[in-house]
Amino acid sequence: MDANERRALGAARAERFPLGAAVRLADLAVDPYPILADLRTSEPVSWVPETGMWFVTRRDDVLDVLRDPERFTTDAPSTIRDMFGAHMMTTEGPTQIRYKRKCLPPFHVSRLAADSVPRLRAEAERLVEAMVATDVRRGELGAAVARPLALHSVMSVLGLPLGEMARVNEWYAAFASALANFRGDPAIRAAGKSAAEAFAHALDPILQALEREPDGTLLADLVCDHADPLTREEIYSNALIILFGGIETTESMIANAVWALLSHPQQFERVRASDGALDLAIEETLRWDAAVQSATRHATRDVELRGVAISEGEAVQCMLGAANRDPLHFTDPDRFDVARKNAADHLAFAVGRHFCLGASLARLETRAVLDALHARCPGFRLDPERFSPPYGYEFRKPEVLWVLWGEV
Ligand code: HEM
Repeated sequence: MDANERRALGAARAERFPLGAAVRLADLAVDPYPILADLRTSEPVSWVPETGMWFVTRRDDVLDVLRDPERFTTDAPSTIRDMFGAHMMTTEGPTQIRYKRKCLPPFHVSRLAADSVPRLRAEAERLVEAMVATDVRRGELGAAVARPLALHSVMSVLGLPLGEMARVNEWYAAFASALANFRGDPAIRAAGKSAAEAFAHALDPILQALEREPDGTLLADLVCDHADPLTREEIYSNALIILFGGIETTESMIANAVWALLSHPQQFERVRASDGALDLAIEETLRWDAAVQSATRHATRDVELRGVAISEGEAVQCMLGAANRDPLHFTDPDRFDVARKNAADHLAFAVGRHFCLGASLARLETRAVLDALHARCPGFRLDPERFSPPYGYEFRKPEVLWVLWGEV
């Protein structure tokens, strides 16, 4: 297609999808939900020129796309593949199933309960205590607790030495910039690639040590697997996506959950002491304001979705946050309701073959932070003088999350 044809196609689409044409990412970042609600009602499959992608906003359509890898695939050129190579998130079919099957066991809830829960709960308590020791009445939960706990937990499950946390954090910053490098700045891409290489380089001696002395972590399992083992390259790539997938997402999930619950103090009061009720409330925080707002797929051929023609290769963004507030599935969807019976039907961790590998771990971390705050910070609440609601279009979280505790 030449430039003139592209312009004509753009103009025709803007005319057919006026709401999509009016979407501004800056507005979505502040408050996506009214914009997504209009799209869901009037243009459920809409062309959004600012992203150059299709937006899909109805829950049923999102389910259809994510459950249909024959028509909508992750196996397409993308920055995440450019950065980390082929891994479970950028492959489909037998290759993806093989990667996932090999990496899944330590993320199973039963194995987490045995291997990780006591350690991650102790770490959450230690971090909360350190925050309280720094200041007797106020703390920034993101930097003091959510981020370091996310790093600690995913590194522990993988089997990365915790002494490497500062370096992992630096690599993470380089990856995050490279993945948000929408203008294609070559220096940013190069920094991301060199962080990925540095990671692989650092991993080598770690893998050799784990091969000699396996310790039950994921990397040890992978390197000691002698029946159909993954190559070193495959281990690096999958370890990278697990590491990348487990840090900021979880930090954001913890912060969003605390934000949502503390913004509804009476509801929080009702559930805070009761195990099952608090777990359901955490599901409602995921439904109400998810940390990851979209899942992207590429059309494998010319396809039709809800009467809209999508061309082979075009990108489709499944708007998980929009699906989570679809009134056809969730009654009064904009209302935060800790007792909502079907809250766990949210798609915050997506669905289908690429369902989040770390969903159970992230839930356990969130629960551990809430319990530690409850135990060590009586009366914890949002700091009204440093108010910072969740922000972001693809990834959403409060930039900072200041909480107070003690006497009002
Ligand atoms: C310990 C924490 C986490 C780890 C290790 C992790 C890791 C991963 C990995 C490896 C995948 C790719 C799975 C596959 O393709 O088969 C994935 C997918 C996904 N994760 Fe997570 N994740 C974590 C936390 C989270 C959190 C807190 C959220 C949001 C609340 C989230 C949302 C998602 C979504 C939406 C996908 C699917 C993306 C897609 O289908 O395109 N993850 N995660």
